[in-house]
Amino acid sequence: MKDKGPRGKLIVFEGTDGTGKSTQLKLLGSYLEKQGYPVVATREPTNGSYGRQIRNLYVNRHQYSREEELELFLADRREHVHNLLQPCLQQGKIILCDRYYFSTAAYQGALGLNPETILEQNSFAPEPDLVLLFQAPLEVSMKRITCGRGDTLNNFEQLEFLEKVAAIFASIHRPYIRRIDASGSIETVRRQVVDSVTPLLSLPSAVPYGMSICP
Ligand code: TYD
Repeated sequence: MKDKGPRGKLIVFEGTDGTGKSTQLKLLGSYLEKQGYPVVATREPTNGSYGRQIRNLYVNRHQYSREEELELFLADRREHVHNLLQPCLQQGKIILCDRYYFSTAAYQGALGLNPETILEQNSFAPEPDLVLLFQAPLEVSMKRITCGRGDTLNNFEQLEFLEKVAAIFASIHRPYIRRIDASGSIETVRRQVVDSVTPLLSLPSAVPYGMSICP
């Protein structure tokens, strides 16, 4: 078993695009801060050098092979683990992370790479305490992207591709994964999120002691 080390909590938000996970991450962050918990919100791809290269993939995905694309996500995650996730966990923070290695398994898996192998390639990354997996019919999430955000779909968001992504997400089973029905209202989904997080925070290692800034 992987050594979890002395730690805070790592709560990961996963799901296909348009399921509302980023909105819910913000809501949970404010809620926990109000309760006095030391919260750090972060996301992948990060804003680091690899993360910036990854964002270029949105514009021209064909510049990299799928293997090179996977390498970029892994490199970005190594940097994230080293610079932020590990230090914050050691400081007892509650990290809310928008996407993590389940996205790599699902998205790069949807390109034809093996999702299980991808999960193994991420063994350097700390295992989350909780994964909130947002699930909604693709028609709902697509509408949120194109109507709600006023965006057009990028390379990662094409329907056929996202069906594969959703199928891989659905096939991943871990004891710490909670499936969130993301098709309802923001408030309905928020309640499911809070209900899923509450048992985790009554554990003794997550004692509230006010917010602080992470390196
Ligand atoms: P997203 O959370 O949508 O970021 P933004 O709000 O900046 O657009 O993530 C960007 C895309 O990256 C998303 O469609 C999923 C994809 N992705 C992968 O393909 N593999 C990964 O490992 C991660 C973390 C994200």
